[in-house]
Amino acid sequence: MATTADGWAPEVYARFAADRAAPFDDLLRLLTPARRGTLLDLGCGTGELTAKAHVALQVSSSLGLDASPSMLKNAAPAPGVVLEQCDITTSLPPRQFDRVVSNSAFNWIADHRTYLPRVLALVAPGGELAVQMPSNTDTPFFRCALEAAAALAPELGGFSYRSPVESPEVYAELFARDARIAQSKVGTWYYPQLHQSVDGLVEFAKGGQLSAYRARLQPADFERFCSSYRQALQRELGEGPVFFAFRRVFLFARLKALA
Ligand SMILES: C[S@@+](CC[C@H](N)C(=O)[O-])C[C@H]1O[C@@H](n2cnc3c(N)ncnc32)[C@H](O)[C@@H]1O
Repeated sequence: MATTADGWAPEVYARFAADRAAPFDDLLRLLTPARRGTLLDLGCGTGELTAKAHVALQVSSSLGLDASPSMLKNAAPAPGVVLEQCDITTSLPPRQFDRVVSNSAFNWIADHRTYLPRVLALVAPGGELAVQMPSNTDTPFFRCALEAAAALAPELGGFSYRSPVESPEVYAELFARDARIAQSKVGTWYYPQLHQSVDGLVEFAKGGQLSAYRARLQPADFERFCSSYRQALQRELGEGPVFFAFRRVFLFARLKALA
């Protein structure tokens, strides 16, 4: 899969903190508090939002897992919240949690048809799961990155980031077929962005999807990649202001309580 270890740049990610926090806040609103319960955050990044969820959901202990040392090293300590470095594709905790969340991280994890059931197995009876993931493969934001990747194919060893995010219908069916689930919701929400020029879009992408390319390129080659990405975006979107209807898929499931 598209490992991003360790192409993450927390200071670049934080430049659009409000844009990135908005879907997380919407994700949190799907969940009910679990007083004195436990929370797991898969792909927790800097842990800032894990701490926010810990308080909002009134749990007594939270565990955030992330593969990126650079994201984790920016974590501020929060009472009751433990963050660990871990590749969540290969290693998941051997216990269940009352609430499981994942914000903008499943889009880096392959094969959701097998991964989602593995994650559902981590949710305790009566517990809840909420996942949010960007899904923009049919937009210039994504397509132009593939074009830039093709231009730097030798430097990237032929790599390009392909999103593993499935259509909402796939998740709806996975939930419907799981006998442990009492209630589920799958939806698509848009978080529109208007930038003065394509430069704003490039800066936003540098904090997210371009991390997979930063992880694989020398700094000078990554700059060439960004400039090629910028040119392709400019060709498709023209002069600013530039609109991008950022699409995100939301998943929610509540499990049946024990009889
Ligand atoms: C866009 S950031 C989101 C961080 C955080 N959830 C937030 O909303 O601010 C995606 C995170 O997923 C993590 N990630 C990607 N693949 C991962 C993997 N295989 N194992 C653990 N973490 C992973 C990255 O290191 C990164 O911190």
